[in-house]
Amino acid sequence: MSTAISPTAYNYKVVRQFAIMTVVWGILGMGLGVFIASQLVWPELNLGLPWTTFGRLRPLHTNLVIFAFGGCALFATSYYVVQRTCQTRLISDSLAAFHFWGWQAVIIGAIVTLPLGYTTTKEYAELEWPLAILLAIVWVTYGLVFFGTIVKRKTKHIYVGNWFYGAFIVVTAMLHIVNHASLPVSFFKSYSAYSGATDAMIQWWYGHNAVGFFLTTGFLGMMYYFVPKQAERPIYSYRLSIVHFWALITLYIWAGPHHLHYTALPDWAQSLGMAMSIILLAPSWGGMINGMMTLSGAWHKLRTDPILRFLVVSLAFYGMSTFEGPMMAIKTVNSLSHYTDWTIGHVHAGALGWVAMISIGAIYHMIPKLFGRAQMHSVGLINTHFWLATIGTVLYIASMWVNGITQGLMWRAINDDGTLTYSFVEALQASHPGFIVRALGGAFFASGMLFMAYNVFRTVRASNPAEAEAAEQIAVVGAH
Ligand code: HEM
Ligand code: HEM
Repeated sequence: MSTAISPTAYNYKVVRQFAIMTVVWGILGMGLGVFIASQLVWPELNLGLPWTTFGRLRPLHTNLVIFAFGGCALFATSYYVVQRTCQTRLISDSLAAFHFWGWQAVIIGAIVTLPLGYTTTKEYAELEWPLAILLAIVWVTYGLVFFGTIVKRKTKHIYVGNWFYGAFIVVTAMLHIVNHASLPVSFFKSYSAYSGATDAMIQWWYGHNAVGFFLTTGFLGMMYYFVPKQAERPIYSYRLSIVHFWALITLYIWAGPHHLHYTALPDWAQSLGMAMSIILLAPSWGGMINGMMTLSGAWHKLRTDPILRFLVVSLAFYGMSTFEGPMMAIKTVNSLSHYTDWTIGHVHAGALGWVAMISIGAIYHMIPKLFGRAQMHSVGLINTHFWLATIGTVLYIASMWVNGITQGLMWRAINDDGTLTYSFVEALQASHPGFIVRALGGAFFASGMLFMAYNVFRTVRASNPAEAEAAEQIAVVGAH
């Protein structure tokens, strides 16, 4: 019990807003994922309209799941973690509010412009220049709030989770600004400042590090706070977490060329990208092991705590996808996997298994605390969600492995006279069953999100946010 922190010490409002929007955008982004997965099974679902074709909805799916769902999860958790570990309120409520509303505006902008066909055509950087500029302004605001809060902290030490969130913020700003350098020719059309192989290299320096810093480093920040909290154990090794941090951020930035094997990119750059990708296995697994070992002495909690299960299984998928990635970066393996569904399976092992699962676990951990409840409305429903998500992910990945290897082998099969054994359409027909299983797996995963929405709704409806803030702040004193 302490008077050191007054009941209004933390800004939980912005955390609540981002947490709720994580669930909303998760449903929409994953629902759209199921829709485009179904379009690949039943092409009639393109509906014969330009706005609803696979080609236009696919980038909307990636923008919604990565930037809307993943982004809101990262913002909610980073604002929660930075305040609690620094024992101080965010440096500015109005800048935090601008961050929230500005980010939602960028997402609405994506929902309007991408189906209309406005796009830079650069993957994960599709938004045209007015939205890209708004995004940059909002991002800089986020950086100001986050780092300003770190500066005014009441603790001596900066908890390692904040290091990971900080690197995610700085590097994402750098990637976004460099990759988006372009010449606008109208309000909705711009041309990249780079050309040819340079353009490709900068795009995949961006693309790979979007994976490395947005989809990995930020979520590792989440892992370093929520896994120890939920397991009620200190992090396994603080020293390992520091080595993990520096090794990860030093190595990730060089691996981009593995997206451009066998292209016009100079061969040495491809080989460098391959070598750095293989080395990347070490810090990735170092982090995974640090998270897993935190459960030493607490494994029995997995039997009764589905939130902890989400967090631990996310680490298992993180370990799996960061083993698979370095293997796919080897040129000979990539010559089979590239352009096939294997890549899509790898993406979703990371995206569903790691990114979505850890976010879901962290949101379930935070919601009761943010809304003044002892726990979520229904632990049983969290458990149902956990199984839907796990089975959905496994169906998704396994079907894409089978499809990917089938496609790769059929495309390269050659008859004695040098002609191709199979036409492209034959490989597509062979992929059809896998497309059905993937759509089913996606539907499992997305339906889990509906259970989450209901559970969150019931928890929030019975809430008392003012009490939550008072109770939480008393509880947190001395926790760090
Ligand atoms: C219900 C869940 C989901 C379903 C059914 C789904 C489905 C799909 C489909 C059908 C594609 C296009 C594949 C192709 O072009 O052949 C795709 C692409 C993609 N999705 Fe998802 N998705 C889901 C969740 C997610 C989540 C949560 C994330 C990220 C956090 C994500 C990230 C991506 C990315 C990055 C791509 C592009 C992959 C590439 O270009 O290699 N998806 N998704
Ligand atoms: C050590 C870690 C990793 C390495 C070395 C790695 C390596 C690779 C390789 C070689 C590809 C295929 C490139 C191609 O043939 O086009 C790829 C694609 C991809 N990976 Fe990873 N990966 C790693 C971890 C992850 C994680 C954890 C995630 C997600 C959270 C992820 C998301 C993606 C995405 C989205 C793509 C598709 C990019 C595109 O073509 O649109 N990767 N990765």
